[in-house]
Amino acid sequence: MEKILIIDFGGQYNQLIARRVRECNVYCEVKPWTTPLAELRAMDPIGIIFTGGPNSVYLDSSPRVDQSIFTWGIPILGICYGCQLMAHALGGEVTPAQDNSAREYGKTLTYYDTSCKLFRGLPSEGVSWMSHGDYMAKVPEGFILTAHSDACPNVAIADEARGFYGVQFHPEVNHTQGGVDMIRSFLCEVCHAKGDWTMGDYKNIAIAQLREKIGQGKVLLALSGGVDSSVAAALLAEAVGPQLTCVFVDHGLMRLNEGDEVEEAFSKWDLNFVRVDAESRFLLKLAGVDEPERKRKIIGEEFIRVFEEEARKVGAVDFLAQGTIYPDVIESGAGEAAVIKSHHNVGGLPDYVDFKEIVEPLRMLFKDEVRQLGRELGLPEYLVSRQPFPGPGLAIRIIGDITKEKADRLRQADYIFREEMDRAGEDKRLNQYFAVLTNTRSVGVMGDGRTYDYTLALRAVTTSDFMTADWARIPYDLLDKVSGRIVNEVKGINRIVYDITSKPPATIEWE
Ligand code: XMP
Repeated sequence: MEKILIIDFGGQYNQLIARRVRECNVYCEVKPWTTPLAELRAMDPIGIIFTGGPNSVYLDSSPRVDQSIFTWGIPILGICYGCQLMAHALGGEVTPAQDNSAREYGKTLTYYDTSCKLFRGLPSEGVSWMSHGDYMAKVPEGFILTAHSDACPNVAIADEARGFYGVQFHPEVNHTQGGVDMIRSFLCEVCHAKGDWTMGDYKNIAIAQLREKIGQGKVLLALSGGVDSSVAAALLAEAVGPQLTCVFVDHGLMRLNEGDEVEEAFSKWDLNFVRVDAESRFLLKLAGVDEPERKRKIIGEEFIRVFEEEARKVGAVDFLAQGTIYPDVIESGAGEAAVIKSHHNVGGLPDYVDFKEIVEPLRMLFKDEVRQLGRELGLPEYLVSRQPFPGPGLAIRIIGDITKEKADRLRQADYIFREEMDRAGEDKRLNQYFAVLTNTRSVGVMGDGRTYDYTLALRAVTTSDFMTADWARIPYDLLDKVSGRIVNEVKGINRIVYDITSKPPATIEWE
């Protein structure tokens, strides 16, 4: 199988490069810059990409490559630090840019030489995303300049005879117009990739790798019913089914039918599926608690206790599997950020479970790739395209103290709202929607009698990354229908409001 190797110099966007290569239907692997050349050669790639990185090539301590990589005869695309590294290694000169005002950060109007293979067929100017403080003062012999900006004459270089290309900007980020086309040109025009790799191939490779790693070992996975843990479970089921135990802890704060749906989806695999009905246990711990962070802590801790108990029943476990995906890896690295809400991804690491190693088969994938993989594995669409659902579940959508009665009412109301939204096709347009049971009661009139019941809030948002969000403009008629159905069908709710705050200043969830 044709493959591209991405040599990682520690840049922020390295997995994004890998993702773009996969988008072009070419298989790739990211390797640390310390990987010996012989190992890279043994992998028999058709091309190499050097990533960006935080260092300056002119410092002795900076990452380097084995100089013979340049006489191997393989095409190389250097991005940002990767471009400077190539220039430096091949006799060019890289200097700090302060000296010549060519530091560039952010969106930059860039002019391309469209006779260069990398830019062929693209407009001769466009915005590119720059983030560099160093500057290629002298281009190495054999290279020509193929792009410039107003501030910097040396934005891209090429030695087409040797198949070496370098760009100072980041073609992998969305802000670079035509960036993916440039990567595709490198893959297809320079490396002659056929571009016939699919997510089905990814699945097969991942299964083979899991089999090799796990051998005859036992694997334990906490299944939440969310997309990530479900896809990880399905992949492991396919790879080592009978050795896998999936523990699904139903804390009684799931959405309507959720537990049955998850169990049903996994019934086709030969694996050990443990469904723990822990509703009463969780509700007991939560009784009378109304402070959101306390609720989250109690649920997170109790979840781990239940999980540990189940793990002990399974016995000596060799591997603990987790559905960590790439954005989680990045987010957990952002250690300085203030804690707005302590997120419990059900499946947080227990302290006492006796296991030898962790497996995270989705660690390199982005969310939409995980969904695609789930489809390849034959998971039902309702699981694969599921909206995010917080680990603490309905506990943080019931404002104030939690009772079973409130949870049941919210479950019903939430189901009606989601059902009507899906029927109206809003599921294609919006990113998340759900109902919240507020702690406010108000007076109403039903039949000829007075009511004094709860107010339910509806929340629907559009967002690309869930870090910021806008409230969704859904049709009044739809709101009307939902409101009518809920007050008629769900006992104890007599008033419906629609949340019209964006994030920030609000958050998506109410607690
Ligand atoms: P907020 O409310 O912080 O939510 O704007 C952003 C996104 O995160 C989801 N969310 C959680 N997900 N565990 C999770 O796995 C949690 O504790 C949690 N809290 C919020 C929320 O549904 C939204 O998609």
